[in-house]
This record gives sequence, C-alpha cells and structure tokens, in this order.
Amino acid sequence: MFRAQLRAAISEKIKEKFGGVAIPEFTMSAPENPEHGDYATNVALALAKALGKNPMEIVQEMKSVIGAHELIEKIETAKPGFINFFLSTHALSRALEDILAHPDTWGESDIGRGKTVIVEYFQLNIAKRPHIGHIRSAIIGDALKRILLSQGYRAVSDTHVGDWGTQFGILLWEIKERSVATTAFENLSFDQTFTELENLYQAGVHRVENTPGGRDRAKAEFAKLEQGDGENREIWRWLVDVSMKKLEESSARLNLLPFDEHRGESFYEDKMAPIVEMVLQKGIAKKTDDGAVVVDLTSEGLDEAIMIKSDGASTYLLRDLATIRYRREQWNFWKNLYVVDVRQSHHFRQVFRVAELLGFDGAGESEHIEYGFMSLPTGAISTRAGNTISLESVLNEAEERARKVIVEKNPDLENMDEIARIVGLGALKYFDLSHHRRSDIVFRWDEALSFEGNAGPYVQYTYARLKSILRKTGGEGAKAAKSAELDSLERQLLTSMLSLNEAIEDTLEDFMPNILANYLYTLAKLAN
Ligand code: ARG
Repeated sequence: MFRAQLRAAISEKIKEKFGGVAIPEFTMSAPENPEHGDYATNVALALAKALGKNPMEIVQEMKSVIGAHELIEKIETAKPGFINFFLSTHALSRALEDILAHPDTWGESDIGRGKTVIVEYFQLNIAKRPHIGHIRSAIIGDALKRILLSQGYRAVSDTHVGDWGTQFGILLWEIKERSVATTAFENLSFDQTFTELENLYQAGVHRVENTPGGRDRAKAEFAKLEQGDGENREIWRWLVDVSMKKLEESSARLNLLPFDEHRGESFYEDKMAPIVEMVLQKGIAKKTDDGAVVVDLTSEGLDEAIMIKSDGASTYLLRDLATIRYRREQWNFWKNLYVVDVRQSHHFRQVFRVAELLGFDGAGESEHIEYGFMSLPTGAISTRAGNTISLESVLNEAEERARKVIVEKNPDLENMDEIARIVGLGALKYFDLSHHRRSDIVFRWDEALSFEGNAGPYVQYTYARLKSILRKTGGEGAKAAKSAELDSLERQLLTSMLSLNEAIEDTLEDFMPNILANYLYTLAKLAN
C-alpha cells in the first residue's frame, strides 16, 4: 500500500528533521488530475502551522529529506504548500509482480484479524411480503459482509426477524376465528403465500376495527402467546416456518451470502425482564401511572424511550436492548452494525443511549448503518393500488429489462436466461451501492442498465472483456513489465489497480460501499 508507506516515510522524516514536534494530522490522497502526481499531501501546511513557519519553506525542507525514497521518482511542489509524489516505475512494477505471484488473493488483507463484526441486514417480518424497502438493506449489508470477510474480519450476519409484537395478536385471532388449517399453505407459491397471509392480516385489522373491544381482544391473544399458550404458540410457529421458508427464496434470488443467524425478536423473550428490572433499579426509568416503563430522554432531544407499554407488552426497543447485550456476550463483537433505513435513526439513538446509561458493554461499538429510500421513477414505493412494491416484482423487472437490452445487443447469446439474471441483479446492486447510502435514490432502469456509464453492466462488461483477453493470450499477457517504459495511460491504470486496498480501507472507514463501487468504475474506464 503506497499510501500507508508514504505516510510512514513522511512521519519518520518529520521526526528526523524537526525533532520534538508532534506529527500533525495530514492528508495523503490521489489528486484528481494525474499530472499532479500519484499522491499529494498537505503535510507542509499542517507542519507550518505547528512550527509557525512559512509552508513553502517547509515544502522545500521536506522535499530535500524525502526525495531519495525508493518509492519515489519525482517530487513536485505546489502553492500554498502541497507536495506531489510521482511513484517510480520500479516500485509500481514490483508491486504488480507481487500481485501476479498470488493473483487470487489480490485485494485481500488480514487487517481485520481477530475482530468480529456483526452485520444485521435484510430484517424481514413474519407473514409480510419482502418489499422494495428491504432491497437496500440486503444489498448494502451483504456487500459489507463480503468486504469485511475479504479483509480478515470475522463477519457474522444476523437478521433480527420481526416475529414478535402485537400484530401477531391480530393474526392469531383471525386465524382462529376462521379455523385456518396449518396445512392450508402447503403447495402455494411464494406470491400466493404472501397474498394469503396479507389477506388474513387485513381481514384481522378489519375485524379488530369493527368489533367492540376488538383491540383488547387482539392484545389478549398476543398476551396469551407471550405467556406460552399452547394453541397460539403452535399457530405462531407455523406462521414463522411458512414465512421463513419463503424468505429463504428471496435471499437466494438476491444471491446473498448465507446468514449465520436468524434470531427473531422472539428469541429475546426471556432476556427482557432482567433489563426492565435493571432500568428501574438504577433509576434510569420510571413507572408511569398507567404501568408503562419509560426512560425520559427529552432533555437530550430523544423523547421518551418506552420499554414496557401500559398494557404490559414489551417493546421493539426493549428487544433491541436485549439484543445488544446478548450479542456482546455471545460474540464479543468489535462492531455491531445495523443496516436499517433512516426512519429508524431515532429508534437506534434511543437504543444506544439507554444501553449506554445502563453501562452495557458494546453500546459504543454499536452503529446504525442508515440508508435513504429507494423509489421508482413513478415516485412512490407503492403501486397505484396502494400496495408496496414487492421485492420480487423489482427483481422480475430487472431481469426482463436486462434481457431486452441483451437481445438487442447480442441476439444469439447462449444461456440468455442466466445472463439476464446476472446482469439484471448486478444492475440493481451496483445502482444501489454506487450511490451514497444516506441519499434517497430513484431507481432509473435506463441508468442502472447502461453498458456505458457508471452502471453495473458496464463494470460486468469490462470484467468479461478482460477475462476474454486473458483467455486469448493464455495468461501470457499477465507479465509484469519490469523495465519497459509505461505510457501515461498504462501508468494510470497500474497505479489505480494498485490502490484497490486503499479504496477498501476507505470504504470500511465509515462503511460506505459507494467508495469501492466508484473505484471500480474508474478502474473499468481506465481499463477500457
Ligand atoms: N423488522 C424491522 C422493520 O421491518 C427492522 C429491524 C431492524 N433491526 C433492529 N435490530 N431493530 O422495521
């Protein structure tokens, strides 16, 4: 890694030259314009401040002391105090030789060795169809897990399935009322299953609203479930099993890495009471007149965090507190990441704050990896009928549209189905990943499916093209040019290639996959 090596070299020279001065923070990055060198630093500006000297003077002094470094061919300086480095061809070709000696592990590292990262994503809900809102969580979470694994982290994925809460009271009541048999969904397709489940839920809501005391009745059904009632447990288990089987199909279609855990919210059932006791005992929470247990965070601008509702039911928030504690005990994580949309930022701030007040180990290492909305150009995330757009329908459309583009470009292609699937899914994933995760994105098919611009198919096309060159040259092309002169494009391509690990490092700094995606786009452009 040239960047790290240059940084280290500079720090060392500062110590040599300026003795006692503390090494200031400084930047080291690749300039936009390659004519300004491969890396540039503002170290002289930072030092000038610390030493009360003129930056250009420091630039000259630094230039003379680092000039002879083996990585560097040439140093240029620029006002008001930048130093630009040009790497030596020798250093570049040596690094390339290193890659070619182990081509299969290029980009990998072990910077994460011994560190466990929990990545929680694709948190689906039982008895509900996965929809467009779940796509980004799946794509970003899966990408982060893959990147972490490549850097030697132990990345553990969990889904925190939504399988608990008062909505189950409504479903239970409806199912019992209609005497739906637990075999009713056998042999139903993915689509039919969720249509049935959604119909049951909607009918249940209708029943609750149109029956005097209906709300209490539904709550009572959930309370029975929480207390372990045999019949309710059996129905609930059946709902979970049916849904989870179907949900596996969605992960498979998205080609996600296997999950390590599917710990539903219900898993934390017996881990909540000790926490309630603890908040009350420590005086962090108070019991309200109607029996709710609440942590007052209003003075911190975080409102009231409700742990137990007035009807005695546990909350989503309480289950999340139990989750942090459990995960820390089980995994001793270095980081605990939640890939969830921005609407839950407030929720996670409450969770992390209460965990901190409770002195939970791991509160400070827990992080909400928030992302903005993905919508379709029609504006909404819902269809005209008001239903949310399903994940399946987005994937189907991606494949169909990819197929159309391929038929136009290459009508005789073999295994058209497989290619359409790969290009469609790749387009969707790349579109998501190449945007800043916090922005709201409008998914435009033309843009996402472009073989020319910053899009998945373009990157895939470049990869296929390079593979084809390698096949044709029998691998012979892949030899390091030891002493040959590189022209400026070749040089740019090489330095860009060699900064893969820097792009990965920057991506993991704040868990921003767009950094890696855009790196790949730049690399693809240079390669083409
Ligand atoms: N199932 C939740 C929902 O659909 C998301 C879960 C997020 N994860 C968590 N640990 N709270 O809104």
